[in-house]
Amino acid sequence: MKNEIIKRDGFTTSLGVIAATLGSAVGLGNIWKFPSLTGINGGASFLVLYLISTVLVGLPVMIAEISMGRSSKTNAIETLKKLPQDKKPWWLVGVAGVAAAFLILAFYTEVAGWVFSYIFKAVSGAVVSTDPRVMSDTFGKMVSSPVHSLLCQWGVLALISFIVIKGVSKGIENMTKRLMPVLFLLLVIVGVRSLTLPGASEGLKFLFIPDFSKITWTTLLVAMGLAFFKLSIGMGTMMTYGSYFRDDQNIPATATRVMLADLSVSMLAGIAIFPAVFALGFKPDAGPSLLFITIPAVFSSIPMGYLFVALFFILASIATMGAMVSILEVPVAFLTEQFDISRTKATLSTVLLIAVFGSMAALSGSTLKDFKLFGMNMFDLFDFISSNILMPAGGLLIAVFAGWFWGAGKVKAELTNRGALKNEAVVTAFLFIVKWVTPLLVLIILLNGLKLL
Ligand code: PHE
Repeated sequence: MKNEIIKRDGFTTSLGVIAATLGSAVGLGNIWKFPSLTGINGGASFLVLYLISTVLVGLPVMIAEISMGRSSKTNAIETLKKLPQDKKPWWLVGVAGVAAAFLILAFYTEVAGWVFSYIFKAVSGAVVSTDPRVMSDTFGKMVSSPVHSLLCQWGVLALISFIVIKGVSKGIENMTKRLMPVLFLLLVIVGVRSLTLPGASEGLKFLFIPDFSKITWTTLLVAMGLAFFKLSIGMGTMMTYGSYFRDDQNIPATATRVMLADLSVSMLAGIAIFPAVFALGFKPDAGPSLLFITIPAVFSSIPMGYLFVALFFILASIATMGAMVSILEVPVAFLTEQFDISRTKATLSTVLLIAVFGSMAALSGSTLKDFKLFGMNMFDLFDFISSNILMPAGGLLIAVFAGWFWGAGKVKAELTNRGALKNEAVVTAFLFIVKWVTPLLVLIILLNGLKLL
């Protein structure tokens, strides 16, 4: 009980709720995953698919999850035991969510480690160059060192355990609330610099003029997977955070704001990266290294650029913290509430497991380079299973539950704050979408994307 009181502390103001939720959404997804996937999958056409998935799948599932969490006021697995009236094993969706949390943290902590590393590289001058070869080499050297990779990951794990043990403290929220606008501003600065490089317009064309001939079912699945990953949905994070929401918080409005703010950060990252990619002769389909080679290169073209690079990666590392803490909160909330163990024990045991498991992802650029399953190394495989299988499947079932099994009366009570809000039209639209549109879309894309049809 004591833990619960501590945990719910931080969510007392409406701004605090938005900061925490946005803190979970904004992270490596915006500045690392979004640009690299957009680059690999052909640019603007991928962006269009991603936007459609965000509105028709992401937003409704986010509203459903937050409402379910707030209604039950407990962790994700318990929520899915408590709310259903039927005897079906809905809680398995929560279990899949915990599995997804492990898989995501296994690779996310590694990339966050690279971000931290780049702060030091910037200060030492190692990444101050506009030469594509030098930049790719620096990145390549970093990921091919097993010791460096493991140290990066374990360092990040130690840092987030420290924060989670203290509870979702005011500290991290205050920090994200203040620093998020600075990150935003810095993205605007890189964006302007990137746009004013000679030859930048090719990048804008790539990002905004779609060529739909390149779309396949796999592209669609990846775009939808990104929408899930971005909004932290389909695996219990938003359900857990929903349980900390205030009773008078307007859920549909909050979710819409978070979605729009999150999209704008991604768009800014795209505008900061793609014009520079084309102007400086980088390749848009460089994949995971894209962020690490283009951002320093753009800044390197201005005086004192290394300071901006350092600042950028400092802010980026802070943005990753809010996201990682929210992922870790899923198993930790479950363990503390279910087995009545302390937050410290729950966090440390979870993190230890992630360290063991995550090292397989961390070493996939070096020692385990040739160890592949389904044609993917462990890093890519963990990413693929979580974003493209577990989260969409979880989201599908959450939408089906909210639309068909929870009961329209209960949905309406949560979405209107028991009648206090007059948003009947929103409730009607939401129910229609989670009943028909979201499940059908996810099902069709999932089955085709995984080549099961
Ligand atoms: N939304 C986060 C990001 O974009 C990642 C995340 C996924 C967070 C799942 C919580 C749950 O970086």
